Amino acid sequence: MLALALEFMVVLLQVAWAVLAAALRWLVRPKEKSVCGQVCVITGAGGELGRLFAREFARRRATLVLWDINSTSNEETAEMVREIYRELDTQTEGPGSEEGSTFQPQVYTYVCDVGKRESVYSTAERVRREVGEVDLLINNAGVVSGHHLLECPDELIERTMVVNCHAHFWTTKAFLPKMLEMNHGHIVTVASSLGLFSTAGVEDYCASKFGAIGFHESLSHEIKASEKDGIKMTLVCPYLVDTGMFRGCRIRKEIEPFLPPLRPEFCVKQAMRAILTDQPMVCTPRIVYMVNFMKSILPFEAIVCMYRFLGADKCMYPFLAQRKEAMNNNEAKNGI
Ligand SMILES: *[C@@H]1O[C@H](CO)[C@@H](O)[C@H](O)[C@H]1NC(C)=O
Repeated sequence: MLALALEFMVVLLQVAWAVLAAALRWLVRPKEKSVCGQVCVITGAGGELGRLFAREFARRRATLVLWDINSTSNEETAEMVREIYRELDTQTEGPGSEEGSTFQPQVYTYVCDVGKRESVYSTAERVRREVGEVDLLINNAGVVSGHHLLECPDELIERTMVVNCHAHFWTTKAFLPKMLEMNHGHIVTVASSLGLFSTAGVEDYCASKFGAIGFHESLSHEIKASEKDGIKMTLVCPYLVDTGMFRGCRIRKEIEPFLPPLRPEFCVKQAMRAILTDQPMVCTPRIVYMVNFMKSILPFEAIVCMYRFLGADKCMYPFLAQRKEAMNNNEAKNGI
């Protein structure tokens, strides 16, 4: 019994230390790790966030493996990455070139539908053959149906679930075994604040992002339990990002200046900082932590009152209306 009490005291100290260490990270920025020469897979690399992640990793001389369902936009990202590699080359010819800068990073592109597990597994196999083992996996691909639940075609709901949630299972199953074997790797889940708390009209999106976060957390615990401390996990939860994915989404206009949509560049910069310092989770802006905390302690009705005050209760409605209008126009044009 005494032993148990002693052990509990030690745990309390460990908990206090973990809290202190997390707080200290806010003040003292930990050193960023090098990803030079590491192989980095990014899903949804043709999208705006995926492209920005690719640029950030390219600047740090990572070898990039870009996945997207759209080969055109994926190739555009690859071209940007090549441009960055070329710039790095010309820089290193001058004086003061860094150590390890002789490494020639490369970019590879693959057309892959992450919503189809055969597509994920066969593409992963090709990556292993053509590029090698993967050091970083950035699960970034994401979609939203943009319809009210009762008006949404079932296929679109399923699509959101498979791309935003199930895909994480397939990519992880494809790349984690080698990471475990080498006790080295990093898996990043690009989720959303809508995976922590929700609002009306985005049932498919919230369900898929809550799912992705549940997956990420359980996997993080499993890796801790396996004592593979060389494998890192980072969960990225940004508030609404200004990528056009939720174009039209509006909170109360007096409040909006205090909580504008995030610039995609800012969102990715914050995420990169967290990834490169092995931070387990990053919410941008920080108020997202606060809302998440309040949601877990306040009664539902209290949250509803606050949402109403902030105009967050129906913030998705203009977005859904815009989507509907765009679709109707399309149908009219195509004579359906
Ligand atoms: C694929 O990407 C290109 C370039 O970004 C874009 O113009 C096109 O609409 C995309 N195709 C689909 C089916 O989304």
